[in-house]
Amino acid sequence: MSVTPVGSASAFTARIQRIEISATLAIVNEAEQLRSSGVDLVDFGAGEPHFATPQHIKDAAIDAIHNNFTKYTAVAGTAELRDAIRARHKADFGSDYARDEVIASAGGKHALFNTFQVLVEQGDEVIIPVPYWVSFKDIVQYGGGVPVFVETEESRGFQLTAAMIEQAITPRTKVILLNSPNNPSGAVIAPKEMKAIVEMAADRGIWVVSDECYVYLNYTAEQFSAGSLTRHKDNLVIVGSLSKTYSMTGWRLGYALAPAALARQIQKLQSQSTSNPTSIVQKAAVAALSQSQQCVADMRADYIGLRGRMLAGLGSFGLACHKPEGAFYVYPNVKRYLGRSGLRTSADLARKLLHEGHVVAIPGEAFGTTEHIRMSYATSAGEIDRGLDRLKRFLEAL
Ligand SMILES: Cc1ncc(COP(=O)(O)O)c(C=O)c1O
Repeated sequence: MSVTPVGSASAFTARIQRIEISATLAIVNEAEQLRSSGVDLVDFGAGEPHFATPQHIKDAAIDAIHNNFTKYTAVAGTAELRDAIRARHKADFGSDYARDEVIASAGGKHALFNTFQVLVEQGDEVIIPVPYWVSFKDIVQYGGGVPVFVETEESRGFQLTAAMIEQAITPRTKVILLNSPNNPSGAVIAPKEMKAIVEMAADRGIWVVSDECYVYLNYTAEQFSAGSLTRHKDNLVIVGSLSKTYSMTGWRLGYALAPAALARQIQKLQSQSTSNPTSIVQKAAVAALSQSQQCVADMRADYIGLRGRMLAGLGSFGLACHKPEGAFYVYPNVKRYLGRSGLRTSADLARKLLHEGHVVAIPGEAFGTTEHIRMSYATSAGEIDRGLDRLKRFLEAL
């Protein structure tokens, strides 16, 4: 009898072989190696806030431990947490979700993963605008879905319109996956376009999954959630997260707002995998959502200042970059440097920038474009200045 050798490709499922380890990880791992060998890096690579988690949120978690709130909870989160999630969303965006339409998960990524496991069947098409957050295509592919990419134009600030989406719809389209504000471009979908997309999807029986993990880091005049389109709730899933809003990336708390029938299926899946999000974190999340939102406003104001500093710096040495309207990334175009010093792709440029310029940036290939690098401005003003100085000298030397 022949035995499949452990570790050979055929020992593993087809579905796990459909996906790749996060494309941002390669450069992050290289950066880690350099750092551990004593190299001083400026890190624009991280996809997370630089702020500490606010004290009142940490205190709520500490209290939860002291009060022995350390047991299993309901799979979808406590009633207290689910009510806090929907009350916050209603107050901020005018949505209207019942408790059984709320599922708390271990991060927004987990909520997305669950949602796609429940919604897509082998061969179903999922429309994904480009540039896209690195995990979208793998989450879709793991569920058997087929990503259908819709290009946006840099010259128009990577703006997405309903007309662009409409062109990509086929009889196999099952889901339209939106992300506003967008990681990596920072583009915000105009509310009127978002409404048009949701209405078009409703007319055609297509789901819209709206990843709104950066919804509070929208620097335009109107902070908008597709969840406010209450007439179209039946085919809409809002994915939210406390990670960026409250600087809680490591705590792992996100959620899905979805019609009750879908929420029940997500709950079933979660009940057979992770069960409830960590009990202590749930108490911290209730504090985050229910107490003063001043910390959110303060962080947002800081990001706006840091964005200005980053853009002014890039502009001072002529690196082309559209103005992002949200999130905490800039996505400059590095095309004019490709072809120099043996650099063929933005991945080559990011690697050389890391090893020679000692600045961490993520190549656009991770997000579906080939001429950009993503740099996070969620860091101190001093680090932005230091990193920009290094970047300028690096580019000049090419
Ligand atoms: C667009 C987008 N969605 C979802 C997530 C997931 O965040 P988390 O799982 O920490 O809530 C991220 C994190 O970087 C993101 O950028």
